[in-house]
Amino acid sequence: MFDVAKVRSQFPILSREVNGKPLVYLDNAATTQKPQCVIDSLVEYYTQYNSNVHRGAHALADQATRSYEGARESIARFLNAQSSCEVIWTAGTTEGLNIIARGMSQQLDAGDEIIVSELEHHANLVPWQQACKYAGATLKIAPIDENGALDVDAFAALLTERTRLVSIAHISNALGTINPIKTLATLIKANRSDTLFVVDGAQGIAHGDVDVQALGCDFYAFSGHKVFGPTGVGVLWGKESILKDWPVWQTGGEMIQSVTYQDATWNVLPGRLEAGTPNIADAIALGTAIEWLATQDLEGMRLHEHALIERAHELSATIDGMRVFGRAPERIGVLSFTLSEGHPADVGFLLDKQGIAIRTGSHCAEPLMGRFGVTATARASFSIYNTLDDVDALFEGIKKAQRMLG
Ligand code: ALA
Repeated sequence: MFDVAKVRSQFPILSREVNGKPLVYLDNAATTQKPQCVIDSLVEYYTQYNSNVHRGAHALADQATRSYEGARESIARFLNAQSSCEVIWTAGTTEGLNIIARGMSQQLDAGDEIIVSELEHHANLVPWQQACKYAGATLKIAPIDENGALDVDAFAALLTERTRLVSIAHISNALGTINPIKTLATLIKANRSDTLFVVDGAQGIAHGDVDVQALGCDFYAFSGHKVFGPTGVGVLWGKESILKDWPVWQTGGEMIQSVTYQDATWNVLPGRLEAGTPNIADAIALGTAIEWLATQDLEGMRLHEHALIERAHELSATIDGMRVFGRAPERIGVLSFTLSEGHPADVGFLLDKQGIAIRTGSHCAEPLMGRFGVTATARASFSIYNTLDDVDALFEGIKKAQRMLG
């Protein structure tokens, strides 16, 4: 049985108050809270073995290197990567996607095509716009339906002989839609086996069963802070056969094999894509977060989140003037909505006064907001430590906000 009280007890921040009310944290798509073991991991690094990696001739450097590379291995296991050299440390999803987009811009020819979808976060749209502009390639946008589900037939119709890359979110941050990644991978590779398939895993990593081999993609990028780890660190996973020759994006220490005054040769993976001293403490703590997650009841966690979003949808039907965005059959715990009484920013402000934390705005998805004819929504996003009481508190808060705005 999934035990939400046991999970909650591991997150110290959840017992604080905000504005004199118990915190109801419903902004998990923006960032997740951290369990005590992740916080301890950071403190332990800085109090016990702070040191650079791969360089020192002393005990602390050895411990730091082993912990840092151990974290890489934990992540490779969690993702079911074929090798830990396929796990590249980044600053987060955005950096991972930009590494691929920048490298791709050097490989595209004029007239080539890239496909994204209508529900992408700016981080999985703008880098591809830039790559296409640089190379004279065409960016195609796969449509979604009114419920926020990807139109798979329309997507398939966009694939051509010129499709060089497809980049799609595993899960939409603004709507909660889970995209059918395996189906898309099959369609993409059947069309042209060398088309690269990139998955923006920013939201997927904390909610799904992310087996990169089973998903059938070539790259999967995610951020540590969305999966109970620290900010400022993330992972770009890529198939070794592709990554080993991927254009280097930063040059300097660590990523070189040998250097003369005139030239340099590059290191093997993963070092060739990791220039300079890395974010050691946060990478180690991300390894701790992933190991912690791997010990949770993942199926129970999914069912629990499903119960939260189902309750939220049920309650939303009882609220006059509430418009809900995103009702795809396959979805996670994201409730994006507007109220006829006021702007989402006012709704967010009034909920905050009641200790309820949500996000308001365009959710870094301006074109998607435009697709639904709005500029902003209020968004409550659930995680494994949220309870049905949190959902009820949200709706009590919404009713109170409506009374104040109405
Ligand atoms: N991408 C994050 C969100 O959806 C910041 O809130």
